[in-house]
Amino acid sequence: MLKDLVQCSRSYRRFDQSARIQPSQLRELVDLIRLAPSGGNKQPLKYILITSEEVCAKVFPQLRWAAYLKDWGGPQEGERPAAYVIVLGDTAIASNFGVDPGIAMQTLLLGAVEQGLGGCMLANILRDELMTLLEIPPQFEILNVIALGKPVEKVVVDPVGAGGDIKYWRDAQQIHHVPKRALSDLIVGEK
Ligand SMILES: Cc1cc2nc3c(=O)[nH]c(=O)nc-3n(C[C@H](O)[C@H](O)[C@H](O)COP(=O)(O)O)c2cc1C
Repeated sequence: MLKDLVQCSRSYRRFDQSARIQPSQLRELVDLIRLAPSGGNKQPLKYILITSEEVCAKVFPQLRWAAYLKDWGGPQEGERPAAYVIVLGDTAIASNFGVDPGIAMQTLLLGAVEQGLGGCMLANILRDELMTLLEIPPQFEILNVIALGKPVEKVVVDPVGAGGDIKYWRDAQQIHHVPKRALSDLIVGEK
C-alpha cells in the first residue's frame, strides 16, 4: 500500500555500511524516476550513481547531517551510506529546476524502500568541493544528494507536541523521533 511505503520512507541516516548496493539497483531507481512529472516536461535532471566504497568515502565528508542533532556529527564509520545519487540540474536544458528534484527524490526514496533500502535526501552539501571531486562539468549544477543504504536505525513518527516543536530528536535508545503536524493543522480550508 502506498500509505505503508510513505510511512516507512523516513529519512534514514545510519546504515549497515557493509551491505553494499549494486549499480543495477541504482539504475533501476533512476529508471523509476525517469517517469516522474517534470515542469514543461523538460526533464533537466541528470544523475551520477555512486556505489564504489572508495568514492563513497570521498563523498561522505562533503555532506552535512541532521542539523538539529547538535551533538551528532553524522554517521560513524560502519554506519555510513553504501551508495549515493548525485542529483544534477543540466543548465543546457533549463536555468531553474523548480520542484522537479523534490518529486524525483521522493519517488526514488519510495522505490528504495520497496527494495528494502532507505535513505536521506540532502541539501546541505559542500557543492564546490563535490563538483571538483567528481569532476562534474560546469554545465551541471549539484542540486541535491541522496544517500542510500540498508538502514540500521529505528525512526518513529510522533505527533507535534503542545509546544509546537518540529525538531527531530533521538532518545536514550537512539530511536530517532520525527514530529509531524496533525491533519487538522494542515487543512486550513474546505469548501
Ligand atoms: C529538501 C530537503 C533537504 C534536506 N537536507 C538534509 C540535509 O542536508 N541533511 C540531513 O541530514 N537531512 C536533510 N533532509 C532531511 C530532513 O531533515 C527530513 O526530511 C526531516 O527531518 C523529516 O524527516 P522524515 O524525512 O523522516 O519525514 C532534507 C530534507 C529535504 C526535504
